[in-house]
Amino acid sequence: MKNLHRSRIFRYAVAYTGLFFISTLLVLTFIYAVTFRSSNNKIEERLAQESQWLVELLSNCTEFEKVTRLNFHISDHPGSLGIYLLLDANGQRLSGNLDRLPDVVLSNGKFLDFYHQDDEEDPELLHMLAIQVELDQGCTLMVGHNYAAIDQIKREIRPAVAWALGISFALGMLVAIFLARRLARRLEIINRTSRTIFEGNLERRMIRTGSGDEFDHLSSNLNRMLDRIFNLMASVRGVTDNIAHDLRSPLSRMRSRMEVALLADRPCEEYREVLVDTIEDTDRLLKTFNSLLTIARVESGAAKKDFTAIDLQQIIIDTVELYGPVAEERGQTLQMSCPEHLNMQGNADLLVQALANLLDNAIKYAPRGAVIVVSAQYGEDAISLDVADNGPGIPEHFREKALQRFTRLDASRTKPGQGLGLSLVQVVAQMHGGDVRLEDARPGLRVRVQLHRG
Ligand SMILES: Nc1ncnc2c1ncn2[C@@H]1O[C@H](COP(=O)(O)OP(=O)(O)O)[C@@H](O)[C@H]1O
Ligand SMILES: [Mg+2]
Repeated sequence: MKNLHRSRIFRYAVAYTGLFFISTLLVLTFIYAVTFRSSNNKIEERLAQESQWLVELLSNCTEFEKVTRLNFHISDHPGSLGIYLLLDANGQRLSGNLDRLPDVVLSNGKFLDFYHQDDEEDPELLHMLAIQVELDQGCTLMVGHNYAAIDQIKREIRPAVAWALGISFALGMLVAIFLARRLARRLEIINRTSRTIFEGNLERRMIRTGSGDEFDHLSSNLNRMLDRIFNLMASVRGVTDNIAHDLRSPLSRMRSRMEVALLADRPCEEYREVLVDTIEDTDRLLKTFNSLLTIARVESGAAKKDFTAIDLQQIIIDTVELYGPVAEERGQTLQMSCPEHLNMQGNADLLVQALANLLDNAIKYAPRGAVIVVSAQYGEDAISLDVADNGPGIPEHFREKALQRFTRLDASRTKPGQGLGLSLVQVVAQMHGGDVRLEDARPGLRVRVQLHRG
């Protein structure tokens, strides 16, 4: 409650209430002004007519007749709000329903709004609108309208309007406080859950009420984000574990090899052999590091800015040409089928590396005499690049796993490799807006790489 003034929702609600208050006040004032202005106009009109009529009635007669006729006129309209005062040529009162002459100076034919104390003992003022007209024989007649009734209405309306405005303002403020507190409670639930999450309870998720309102949307988005972060963290942890594990064995192998070499004096040849083996192991380690770095760079999206217009057909021709002799050495046939000029936006170096990894796998894991087919075709807005062999293939349950870092089939352990080739193919495909699927080529493996044409 004490932080209410800092709540944005509360401020909005208060601002809205204030605006509502001011606009209602303006509307009411307008209606009030217009109503009384129009009734005033009517009164003026009526006074002008009546005074005109009285001028005719009270002209061309003696003072006595004037007095009688006016008295008759007044008594003929009992209870009317009319005010009349007849004065002689010296300005002395002759007749009328006022006892005293008003203190104000009335000019002929002009309306005047004023207060008049008619009874010296009674302090109550008479509020009136009056006009003065000239009669013959120097007499003047004042005709006026008593505002008492209208003033009474005004007096009654004002507090009613003030109450109505006050009540609506108070209700508005109550609604503002109610809204602010209600929303603050919902936000506090989210905040509290966030706190427990960043204090280490990573499995906690935002509670949803199931009402489908914006807070539920926010909660489910936050939950989705947390799931994603959680999965990423898990995969990063997995990769780190794998790296540590995979680098430890070659390093300890190198270390024990050198240790054994140092145990006794040996001929120069043997030391040389140990050094050559050590260099080989180091090369393998460097290769692993390089592959990991490339994958990380592609994943970070940094390579995306090197995208240029490329011809995938040319890339396929060049890479197949590069691997031709290796396949031939293993008695394998390397075939290629691909339409002319497969134009797309992409990173040529990375696509060459990806295709090279696939050809390397096919040549490495398919037996002697196998047939390897590289083909490419246009899809809707993607190009699909396939590399198929008729070797042993990958069992279905292992296909998804084979794309992950450092995973190798047990049968492949005798062949050189770090289990990073398909991972690179996957991140390169993803960088080109596509993906990789491993399929059964019956027999053998078909790797289908989808590339967005950009
Ligand atoms: N063409 C293939 N035929 C059979 N198995 C394959 C083929 N390509 C990949 N594999 C399997 O998938 C695993 C992962 O491949 P890859 O990521 O390229 O790693 P590496 O070739 O370094 O082992 C390989 O170890 C192998 O077991
Ligand atoms: Mg490989």
